[in-house]
Amino acid sequence: MFSAFNFQEIRPPVLEDASLFTRSLGESTEVVQKQMFLIRREEDVYALRPEATASVVRAYIENNLDKTSGFAKLYYLGPMFRAERPQKGRLRQFHHLGCEVIGSGNPLVDVEVVSLAEALLKAFSISGYRIELNSIGCPEDKKKLSEKLHKELKKAVRALCDDCQRRFETNRLRILDCKNETCKDAVAKLDIGDSCLCSECGEHFSRVRAGLENLGIRYEWNPHLVRGLDYYTRTVFEFKHSGLGSQDALGAGGRYDTLVADLGGPRLGAIGFAFGIERLLLASSQGEFDGPQGKLTYVISLGEEPARQAALILKELRMAGIACDTDYESRSLKGALRRANDLKARYVVILGQDELHKGVVVLKDMSSGQQKEIKPSELARELAEV
Ligand code: HAM
Repeated sequence: MFSAFNFQEIRPPVLEDASLFTRSLGESTEVVQKQMFLIRREEDVYALRPEATASVVRAYIENNLDKTSGFAKLYYLGPMFRAERPQKGRLRQFHHLGCEVIGSGNPLVDVEVVSLAEALLKAFSISGYRIELNSIGCPEDKKKLSEKLHKELKKAVRALCDDCQRRFETNRLRILDCKNETCKDAVAKLDIGDSCLCSECGEHFSRVRAGLENLGIRYEWNPHLVRGLDYYTRTVFEFKHSGLGSQDALGAGGRYDTLVADLGGPRLGAIGFAFGIERLLLASSQGEFDGPQGKLTYVISLGEEPARQAALILKELRMAGIACDTDYESRSLKGALRRANDLKARYVVILGQDELHKGVVVLKDMSSGQQKEIKPSELARELAEV
């Protein structure tokens, strides 16, 4: 899917200078305050990366990608680490499947990024999700929103949870997405809308919305959606799934138009998202993706000489890119077929003494039950066609 959208893979390191995250995610964010795994070595402090956006931007700047490739469309997949209390859908080591587009502020890029995220969910056969969208505007607009919250929540501060009382001083926007019931009630009374957006950010947001509507992508505008990391500007979004319980975000992202310059690079617009792979697995209907299992060919050999022949067949099929496996536990034919069934194999290749003498194998289609004899040399072509 990433290739279809013309993205290239980037593999940032798991360890980064801790200050990279402090500078980009923000000193007062939960991730920086409470969730970073830190490693001290002599004078230096490193962090097991809690996310990859900051690393991708660092790599972009360090490798002068603005000069060599300018507009960059990059995706990544790998482990992230956050010191949280583990529960369903929340782990200390989890995995992101994410992407970053660096080099443009065009609202059509926002539309492409959201449509890529949706295309991935469709490719994983995940349904029952909803997209929440908002614009928090440029840094000036964020300041206006923060001042507005100061004015409107001043009298209610004491009633807010301990975290929000602290956030009221350090990071007011975060009060908007607090999960505490009292805070939610206080926030529900606020009329925020898009009143804090300047005319350019308002225009940008309307163009993102129009672009999504043009593609038939359904979303809900949630004026309270602010996201938990400080680098965001303008468009922010979350993919939520009701089957996930309290950790209901499958993935999330947004624009970060000031981060590249803040980390020492040129002034460039950028946007990205990340899905939590474990949450994708929880939400996918079969509890697992359609991996090679759906197309697996299971090779069963009966006897020593057939096993030698089977090893050659496995080698040839794998070289041809056909997913296959075999029974190493010398089960009976019945037992091996049961194993093939458990593995959801699409085809089974059976090779016994009789077939060996005739110079054929039996190819069985597990969904129809039909089987036929075929020469081993024709197997790869036959299986590649299905
Ligand atoms: P995030 O919202 O912190 O965003 O994480 C993205 C997704 O990672 C979440 O929606 C969730 O599915 C998953 N996730 C987060 N923490 C955990 C955890 N402890 N256990 C399991 N899954 C988790 C970011 O990290 C941004 N870097 C996304 C982004 C990319 N924004 C722009 N570009």
